[in-house]
Amino acid sequence: MSDSKIIVALDYPTADAAIALANQLDPARCRLKIGKELFTRSGPKVVELLVKQGFDIFLDLKYHDIPTTVAKACSAATDLGVWMMNVHTLGGGAMMTTAREAIGNTSDRPTLIGVTLLTSMDQQTFDQIGLQGSITDTVLRLAKLAKESGLDGVVCSAQEASQLRAQHDDDFQLITPGIRPANSKQGDQHRTMTPAEALAAGSSYLVIGRPITAAENPMAALRAIEESLN
Ligand code: C5P
Repeated sequence: MSDSKIIVALDYPTADAAIALANQLDPARCRLKIGKELFTRSGPKVVELLVKQGFDIFLDLKYHDIPTTVAKACSAATDLGVWMMNVHTLGGGAMMTTAREAIGNTSDRPTLIGVTLLTSMDQQTFDQIGLQGSITDTVLRLAKLAKESGLDGVVCSAQEASQLRAQHDDDFQLITPGIRPANSKQGDQHRTMTPAEALAAGSSYLVIGRPITAAENPMAALRAIEESLN
């Protein structure tokens, strides 16, 4: 178990590529995120293997279905030994409560996080699917519902972190992607924050992909980020 606030996004199409990157990192110095592409191509084996290597795994599959189905998926992810997993808050309070019950109450239970609105959702898409009000108000409302439903925190953009932190204690975890160290490439991310800015805004964990995975020396890139936080 690491105490790092850095979660490296393993956005790879094959288990071999993901494992090759993980082999260059230290499980005491970061955690790893496995998302839909890698999981759909490689299945639970890659999760089990990286757990066995000592990594804390955030299984980012954003479950959204009827409560029973989501609860069973969360129970299966718990059995895999993941450290963190997530569900979609738009599935509603009953779905989240049932998911939370499914992961149990042992001291080593996984952390259960909610996705509020995806940061890719703009006002046009928000209106298109018939949601009312503003995007920000909706994110705040869904985060409150996640908290009331027993979830441990939410994924949010670093831009939203300070408003969410103003409404929630430090034990409600804010997981923020869209992080770019100073002087690194933005890629397809907009409105990014540096690691230090995101933590100052109230973020609990930083999801960082390409600034580490695409670096010539991923461990050196990770070390540089750690130093920027000291
Ligand atoms: O390479 P980069 O640092 O942009 O990777 C960010 C990771 O966080 C990717 O896995 C991406 O899917 C994820 N993510 C995101 N924005 C969100 C939610 C998740 O960038 N709103």
